[in-house]
Order: sequence, then C-alpha cells, then structure tokens
Amino acid sequence: MSQPVLNITDLRATVEDKEILKGVNLTVKGGEIHAIMGPNGTGKSTLASTIMGHPKFEVIGGSVQLDGEEVLDMEVDERGRSGLFLAMQYPSEVPGVTNSDFLRQAMQAQSEDGKDVPIFKFIRELDKNVSALEMNKDLPHRYLNEGFSGGEKKRNEILQMMMLKPKIAILDEIDSGLDVDAMRIVGNAVNSMRSSEFGCLLITHYQRLLDHIEPDYVHVMMQGRIVKSGGKELMKRIDTEGYEWIKQELGITDERVVIEDEPKARESIGSCATSDMFKI
Ligand SMILES: Nc1ncnc2c1ncn2[C@@H]1O[C@H](COP(=O)(O)OP(=O)(O)O)[C@@H](O)[C@H]1O
Ligand SMILES: [Mg+2]
Repeated sequence: MSQPVLNITDLRATVEDKEILKGVNLTVKGGEIHAIMGPNGTGKSTLASTIMGHPKFEVIGGSVQLDGEEVLDMEVDERGRSGLFLAMQYPSEVPGVTNSDFLRQAMQAQSEDGKDVPIFKFIRELDKNVSALEMNKDLPHRYLNEGFSGGEKKRNEILQMMMLKPKIAILDEIDSGLDVDAMRIVGNAVNSMRSSEFGCLLITHYQRLLDHIEPDYVHVMMQGRIVKSGGKELMKRIDTEGYEWIKQELGITDERVVIEDEPKARESIGSCATSDMFKI
C-alpha cells in the first residue's frame, strides 16, 4: 500500500446560505498527524462535516482530493469506502443495529473484492481492540451508541477507526468528555495507528489530548480559514498564552465565523453518523 494524500484546496462551504468555510487549504499525508486548534465557532466541525459530505453543508468552491480522486463528487458512503473516516464530535445513536454488526458490515462494505470478512479474524481483531481501549466487553453487542456514556461513545468511534483502518482519519474533539485515563487510552490507540499508510487530522479545542498524541503540524482556525500553521511550538504557545496573541498579530477582532450563537444548529450536525458513510 502507498502513502495516502488528502489535498484540501480553497474549500468554501455554506450552511443555510451563510458562508462558514472561507477558503481552507491543507494537505495531510500518510505518516502525518495534523492538529487543528481554534476557539469555538471558527468552523472546525464544519470542515470535518464538509469533507465527509454532510448534506447540511453546501460546497461553493474548492476541492478535496484523496489520492488524486475528487472526494466532493463522491456519495457519502463512497467517501467512507475510499478510506476517509470521521469520528464525530457528537456521535449519534443507532438503535436496532449492534455495534459489532455495524462494524462487520462497514468492513464488508470496504472490502475491495466483496469477500466476506472472515468471522474468526473479525472477532480476534475486535477483542484485541476492545481490550486495548479498555472498553466494557459487552459494548460490541449493544446497539450502536444507544445509552453509551459520552466517554464510551468516543472510545467507540476510536474502535471503529481501529477496525476500519482508514487512510485518513478526522477526529473531531475526540477528547471532549474524556477523563484523564480515557484520554491516555485514546491517545495510545491513535499512536498505535501511526504509519506511512495512515494520516490523521485531529480537531481539538484544548491541548490536553496533544499531551498524548504528538502532532507533526499544528494549525489554527479562525473565521473559517486556517490562519496560522506551525509545529509543536505553536501548540505550546497556545497552551500558555491562549489565542489572543494570534488575533492581535493578524488584526482579528472576532475569531468566529458567524457573530451570533446558535447552540441548536450545532447539535444538528450530530445527525451525520458513521452509519451514513456505509449506508447502514
Ligand atoms: N448545522 C448548522 N446550521 C446552521 N449553522 C451552523 C451549523 N453548523 C455550524 N453552523 C455555523 O457555523 C459556525 C461554525 O461552527 P462549527 O463548525 O461547529 O465551529 P467549531 O467546530 O469550530 O466550534 C457556527 O458558529 C454556526 O454559526
Ligand atoms: Mg466543533
């Protein structure tokens, strides 16, 4: 397998006729971990949802290419099959489908030759990853995310990532709702995926997760764009000084994309589930 490349060029998107993404440029290659940081309301989740094809967001310009193929022309499930994976900030519950059935079907949908995923191999892999994530042994047999605690949902997203082995994973605030131990476990899990065949875009509001996962590149998002990029030193400076100095440096008075708060709108993003990626 070769090193995957995700190329985002001048990506612009609207929601309800408001422009949220205002020209995002970013390249993520296999072997690299990129962190996108930024205050709330700057467009981070919108970027993730737009890449994955959430119907709420309309692309009005730019391109997203995975290994040279235009992702924006693909249906949502094709995006999943092509090797993109999104761990949602707000994973949705799918009653009636068990976690392990979901995983098996998703893996099946991904298999190029359409052959069944061998059951023993599947179970062995599932057990191994459930242990690595220190998850409750019964979680695979429960309905997808139904009644899961916030932390369990997040671990479950990581379980899906480990089973599906995407080329590029986008993890949206995977750290929110995790306690210190869970953060370490999730951090170790992401680190264990590191290889030239896997690239990762970590969206995080805090730097706590980055104590466990060392990013190669750090980007700051404000006003629907990446306004600053650097390495670990950028993350450390944000950790001690916050974002104010960046705003001053760039002459930004309000970092948000839309100058109003819409908590209702935010929650609706949760309706884009991993299940959409595999038409389950
Ligand atoms: N589903 C939606 N409906 C309407 N507006 C939205 C929706 N999602 C996001 N927005 C708008 O886009 C802005 C950026 O939101 P979001 O991408 O969630 O930011 P972040 O993840 O950086 O906190 C929000 O302030 C909101 O105004
Ligand atoms: Mg967000």
